[in-house]
Formats: sequence, structure tokens, C-alpha cells
Amino acid sequence: MKAVAVYPSSRKIGITDLPEPKIAAPTQVKLRMLEVGICGTDKEICRFDYGTPPEGSDFLVLGHESLGEVVEVGPDGGGFKPGDLVIPSVRRPCQHPECVACRQGRQDFCYTGDFTERGIKGRHGYMTEFAVDEARYMVPVPRELREVAVLVEPLTIAEKALIQVWNVQQRLPWACEIVPGKGKAHCHRAVVLGAGPVGLLGAMALTVAGFDTFVYSRAAGAENRAKLVESFGAHYVPAETNSIDDLAKIVGTIDLVYEAVGASQLAFDMLHTLGPNAVFVFTGVPGRKGPVSVDTDLLMRNLVLKNQILFGTVNAGREAFEAAIKDLSTFTKRWPDATKALITGHFPMEGFADLLAGRAGGIKNVLSIG
Ligand code: BGC
Ligand code: ZN
Repeated sequence: MKAVAVYPSSRKIGITDLPEPKIAAPTQVKLRMLEVGICGTDKEICRFDYGTPPEGSDFLVLGHESLGEVVEVGPDGGGFKPGDLVIPSVRRPCQHPECVACRQGRQDFCYTGDFTERGIKGRHGYMTEFAVDEARYMVPVPRELREVAVLVEPLTIAEKALIQVWNVQQRLPWACEIVPGKGKAHCHRAVVLGAGPVGLLGAMALTVAGFDTFVYSRAAGAENRAKLVESFGAHYVPAETNSIDDLAKIVGTIDLVYEAVGASQLAFDMLHTLGPNAVFVFTGVPGRKGPVSVDTDLLMRNLVLKNQILFGTVNAGREAFEAAIKDLSTFTKRWPDATKALITGHFPMEGFADLLAGRAGGIKNVLSIG
């Protein structure tokens, strides 16, 4: 069977021929891979900045944003049956007995760093025709979502963030503002930094969660992104013509910032606009470009005097996958066109080179495999 693999030692990327995997334990399922999305992490791996092949292998099969169809189920395969659609989760636990996170199935919060990730770190990914894995890492997805289900994994980033936001905001009265005589005036206001797939999916999830959402971005093709953002009820603020202070004036009190660009200067410049009791969530992974300057006194004063919280979040656990599937279903009902518009290209496996080099443009591009 064919697979897209990177060879870090010889700095090559190509289609390789591999033996079809077989179910090797009663608790496993075998999948035919249908679609795999391409993201910034894949591109980074293809620039040889990130990514680790499995032990003893000189190559890594790419792909972690995937959709598969069950074709075979072991006798203890968790109730799956052939024909079921599933989203495989990405991360697998470390083996250390003392890692309470991994021991409880929360490898997205692994303490040791010795977790593995399919298609990223120490395990082959899903840009291949068939894959075998433990049934417990598969999240079932309804057939109606077939067309857009490949968006589930990138959406889990926002879902995990939102679950944490609700949890940390239990520290205070955190409810929508009621204007006497007028009922619910507005809910919280969120700013999303970035209009790539993670930003746009995050903006949709925030809108569904009741946030008045503003997307601030310097995206190429800004006009189309602006239309897309407005079509699902959020607002687009172009960074080319609006400074961060302009943005803050447009939004008013900022209750949440969801950072999805990985540009640290922008993120830290944004911090001083945070409102009281606000939360700032980092999801981007910046390249190391050297120090930037930050007014640390101002930052610390605000954090303390305004009860603010900053946190970073990576990967996602099962509850975030389930929340993503639920939200994606809501998106397709409320905004069918906008949801479909997030997937801008379907390519055959042979089209990997342009996609992984980032030459294809668009929002989310996917390899259609099966
Ligand atoms: C994936 C995460 C993963 C992270 C770091 C992201 O692209 O969506 O699942 O944890 O990369 O490797
Ligand atoms: Zn661990």
C-alpha cells in the first residue's frame, strides 16, 4: 500500500510502498483511510524542523488530521463494525507508571513528554491506505458528517481550549450580562487572532458557545475570509488597516483571546487590551526567531489588578473530540456553506508535494485517499 513519508536523515519526502497492516490484538480495528488534512505541523515536519520517526525506522509516515472507515474489527474492538466512520485521536500515552495524566487516558496532559503522536512523534500517521490501531483511540463520527469530518481534529484544539475556559472561569460569576428590562444584552466578547483553519474553526465554536466573536487577521485573500467570517455571525477586523488599539476600540471589553497564529509579538502586544477577569489562550507554536520586547511591568500589573489568566493548550482528549463532532454537526446545520468552504481543496496522494510545501493556498487542503 502507498503512504506519504518523510526521511529526515536524507531530507526527502515521497510516496513509499508499505505492507498492509494486520490486526495484531483483539482490541484493535483496521481502517481504510478516507481523508487526511494538511496543517502547519505537517509543513514544519517537511521542513525537517519537527517530527520524529518511530524507533528503528528512518522514515515517518505523515498525517494526523484524519478520517477513516472501519474495515475490520478484533473480537474486543469496542463495538465498532465495518462501515463505521471514525476520527482517530493523535496522541498515545507515555509508559511511565508515575504519569498520572497518561495513566488516566489524559495523554494530552502528559507530564513526562514521552508520549507519542501518530504522524508527528514516534508513530506513523494516516497518509496511507490502511491503518491499524486500538479501538479505544477511535472516536465514532456520524455518516452525515462525511464531507467535513476531516475538520474534527483541528477543531479539537478550540474545543479543548473552551472546556478549560469554562473550568477556569468557575472561579467567578461568569454569565452573560443582563440589561434590566432588555433581557440578555450580549454575552462575552472574544477575539480570535488568525484566520487560518484553527482560527476560523475556533471562531465558529466561540460563536456557537454564545461569544460575540471578532477575528483579527492579516490573512491572504482577506476579502473572502471576511465574508466567510461574517457569514457565520462573527466580525472580521483586518490587521492591515487596524492596529491592536483600533481592534480594542471596536470590540469593547475583551473577555477572551483565542490565539491561533503563533506570532508571539502580536500575542504579547494584545495582552494589554484584555479586560477584567479575561482569559488569554495560546494555541500557536512560534518558530524561535529571537527575543521580542514586552512591557513586563504593564503585563504583570494587568494580570494582577484585573484577575487575568493566560494558558497554553495542545492536543486534545476524548471529550474534546466528542465536543468537536457535536459542534461540527451544529456548524453544518447553521452554516452549511461556510463549513464546506473551510475545505478548499481535495488532492490525490500524488499531490502531496505542493500541499506540504504550502504552495496550494486556500484554507484547509486535504488528501482524498479512499
Ligand atoms: C496537532 C496536535 C499535536 C501538536 C503537537 C498539532 O498539529 O493537532 O494533536 O499535539 O500538533 O505535535
Ligand atoms: Zn505521560
